[in-house]
Amino acid sequence: MPPIDPPRTTSPVPVPENDAGLGELLAALRQAAGPVSGESLAARLGLSRTAIWKRVQRLKALGYEITGEPRRGYRLRAAPDCLLPCEILQGLPTRRFRGPVHAFSRISSTNDYAKELGRRGAPEGTLVVAEAQEAGRGRLGRTWASPAGVGLYVSLLLRPPLPPVELPRLTLTVAVAAARALERSAGVRPGIKWPNDLLLGGRKLAGILTELETEAERIRYLVVGLGLNVNTPVFPPELADTATSLYLATGRPHSRIRLLRAWLEDFEALYELFLARRFPEILAEWQARTVTLGRPVRVRQGEEDLCGVAVGVDPEGALLLQTAGGQVVRVTSGEVAPDPDCGPGA
Ligand code: BTN
Repeated sequence: MPPIDPPRTTSPVPVPENDAGLGELLAALRQAAGPVSGESLAARLGLSRTAIWKRVQRLKALGYEITGEPRRGYRLRAAPDCLLPCEILQGLPTRRFRGPVHAFSRISSTNDYAKELGRRGAPEGTLVVAEAQEAGRGRLGRTWASPAGVGLYVSLLLRPPLPPVELPRLTLTVAVAAARALERSAGVRPGIKWPNDLLLGGRKLAGILTELETEAERIRYLVVGLGLNVNTPVFPPELADTATSLYLATGRPHSRIRLLRAWLEDFEALYELFLARRFPEILAEWQARTVTLGRPVRVRQGEEDLCGVAVGVDPEGALLLQTAGGQVVRVTSGEVAPDPDCGPGA
């Protein structure tokens, strides 16, 4: 595939090319109980000592703390939470979702880049990650604040052999995977707000933007974009009352690499179930994790508002809203917010 000139994408560091060979070196340094000599690393990796030295310098430039002890060798003392492709993929047990990884320090939107890759025929499992986004996009035309280094901004390319009507169901599946991953690797249990916002203490922790291109009534490709506020220490005033991060909710920093790997694993397991036509099981888990059902809510749909009690989700993933007149309305898009004024008899 010819390289893409990503519009408004600057300083793509690290890119997969820069990452080449670092994974093996990191694995060897991690395996060694103590310092390991340049000579033995060179023999093990089939490289010259100079090549090892150069790779060590590259790792140091990326923030890895590696000391060189005279006559004893190199020792890895600390690793940054850097979204290096090799750190994402090393030892990852997934079969479908395992790259290639396109990693950027700054990009306009990982979803836009992943869509371009999709158009150009990139395989299922292709990942785009960025340390920061300049034009991160949310659902319903909103923006997604994407400050550098503190969040997870990732897009995954899928090629499900399915018709586009499956999209709402897949959207719920992505949210269940993210909730599972957060529970497993950060010890929190976020609630899911229909269709796929993740909330902690009523504030938004993560959002998902799924976009697709179709051909002849089939999905040609689908991009699943996940934005997760991981170590955000403070939000700008316009988000301060509605957003949260894992750091703010738990009082400690979390590893973005660990969270991303957990999401890829959990999503792959659920995607396999989904493809095996076992969505009802996923829906049951979504229902167990949702904070939307059984509550009076207002659904904003552009200029229009719908008001009622969220009584269920149908087998297609649409929200079922019982209005004051007792009528049940199917909602397929919109922003849901709790509203006591929409309760029965309101
Ligand atoms: C929402 O809740 O409105 C969805 C937010 C999705 C944000 C993610 S961040 C990675 C990917 N790239 C984007 O431009 N958007 C998604």
